[in-house]
Amino acid sequence: MIYSRIAGTGSYLPARILTNAELEKMVDTSDEWIRARTGIERRHIAADGETTVDLAEHAARRAIEAAGLKPEDIDFIAFGTTTPDLVFPNCGVLLQKRLGCLGVPAFSVETACAGFMYALSIADKYVRCGEAKRALVVGAETLSRMTDWEDRGTAILFADGAGAVVLEPSATPGILSTHLHADGRYNEMLYCAGGVSTGFGAKLAIKMSGKEVFKVAVQKLGSVVDETLAANGLERSAIDWLVPHQANIRIVQATADKLGLPMERVIVTVQDHGNTSAASVPLALDIGIRDGRIKRGELLLLEAFGGGFTWGSALIRY
Ligand code: UT7
Repeated sequence: MIYSRIAGTGSYLPARILTNAELEKMVDTSDEWIRARTGIERRHIAADGETTVDLAEHAARRAIEAAGLKPEDIDFIAFGTTTPDLVFPNCGVLLQKRLGCLGVPAFSVETACAGFMYALSIADKYVRCGEAKRALVVGAETLSRMTDWEDRGTAILFADGAGAVVLEPSATPGILSTHLHADGRYNEMLYCAGGVSTGFGAKLAIKMSGKEVFKVAVQKLGSVVDETLAANGLERSAIDWLVPHQANIRIVQATADKLGLPMERVIVTVQDHGNTSAASVPLALDIGIRDGRIKRGELLLLEAFGGGFTWGSALIRY
């Protein structure tokens, strides 16, 4: 039996930091409200001309180096993003060209904040069946490009960043299971109108019914956590670390409560980079690994929830 395991992780945040104090000057909000209701203290914004693939390349090179590999060793690229550089070629292919691993499959997955979970699940299957040996999985976004900077309900939340992992085959898990879901009935609660087929209209802007999204996110993440534990015959106490989607500290706390995990066992990075959609889970994972909290052999539960709605989880022996 072949499993996939995480060989290396990497992440990248653009240099420009946008603070809550700056947002106070842009919309009717306050640092106090943002911290209390979301946990966010600052976020990173891509420079003019800096694209999703630019951010992804930094994260990918760091993950490949951490895995002890060279870019040309990568034989599969799955790229989660909802803010692609171009309509096509997809971000996976644009990244492939820069890394120089020409000829290998490269594609992007467009499942909003769950993009990394979907990309990870697909890459895991390819490694498990022996068709990929060094799979690069990326989550990267420049959400600032479709943020409505006059809407206080969303401008305070969304931001830019990238995270990546390299998967390799292993005789022991590795990734124990992944669980993906989508429910299109909720598409109007969180979306960005405009596309090739419908036309780009006026301005690209994320629309969100925050309170409603919050409620469904807490419920669906709670149930996917139960599903993940049940699929592996595990008790809640088996989890060493929760590595959650970094959307709102209150959603993170609700999932931690569901798992009976103290917040010391949860990787929380939302204060530093806000909601970076597909980038948020691999960013948090990389930060938790590089600062020494997450150690080899520990059991990690990753989860994310986003527009669609789409959501998913992964149980990983690191
Ligand atoms: O990653 C994908 C998923 N996205 C999410 O997970 C986001 C989910 N939703 C949320 O994180 C939260 O719902 C928000 C942070 C968006 C909003 O927090 P909330 O606690 O649900 O606030 P609310 O919408 O119930 O609004 C409470 C009050 C309202 O004022 P009144 O009606 O009580 O007078 C809002 O108008 O807070 C007001 N408000 C704000 N005040 C200051 C809403 N946004 C702001 C703001 N600054 N930015």
